Amino acid sequence: MFLNPERPRRLNQILSLAGLTSRRKADEWIKSGRVVINGRTVTEPGTRAVWGVDLIEVDGTAIPGPSERLYLMLNKPFGYVCSLSDPQGRPLVTDLVRELGERVYPVGRLDFDTMGLLLLTNDGQWAHRLTHPRYRVPRTYKVTVGGRISDSAVDLLQKGVMLEDRRMYRAGVGLIHRGEKQSLIRMTITQGKSRQVRRMLEATGYRVVHLIRTHFGNLALGDLKVGEYRHLEREEVKSLGKLVGLG
Ligand code: URA
Repeated sequence: MFLNPERPRRLNQILSLAGLTSRRKADEWIKSGRVVINGRTVTEPGTRAVWGVDLIEVDGTAIPGPSERLYLMLNKPFGYVCSLSDPQGRPLVTDLVRELGERVYPVGRLDFDTMGLLLLTNDGQWAHRLTHPRYRVPRTYKVTVGGRISDSAVDLLQKGVMLEDRRMYRAGVGLIHRGEKQSLIRMTITQGKSRQVRRMLEATGYRVVHLIRTHFGNLALGDLKVGEYRHLEREEVKSLGKLVGLG
């Protein structure tokens, strides 16, 4: 599950694991002579090294050493499944991080047809805490609904709607745009029940047309492109951990 630091790896994989760049860009860096191993410039993309043992420099600066844990933010595209296998053979979110060569797991789930911020990690405790209902980590969505959303529906979502499990679910709601054909709202919820946003809107008489998660805890999706991922900064991992009583 964790990185074996002693294993020789391709240089492009190391640069990607270190969070510096993608494997493809790393190959370009290598070919253009920007990468030095133990004082010797390498230009062959297939070169292997032992991360944490060999001294690897890019543009004269040593790269960070291996951390055992991987923490990623992915902008999940429409039409991907948040599990490790799919009986219907649909694309998996983990396909999008395959180049890492390490197993990581989605932190909670987004529906097949939901896009946006999805965390992936191999740190089981961090993932478990972030998805545990007890910690009420806020998740924010941009939600496009069919039709002109009424003030009373917004009010209801804020006060609480009852779902099939006979529990009340409420959300922080901001109106972004109200149109005749479609409306756009921002919704923040602190539970992660299956299809919760869609079901809450259905309960108020609206159909979700498009759903994007923009925030998870204090992390924002920012300008990460659809289908791309980035490694979280150390500080981001720590501050999310703090929200759920870690560190
Ligand atoms: N709520 C939903 O309805 N779907 C998601 O994917 C996430 C939250």
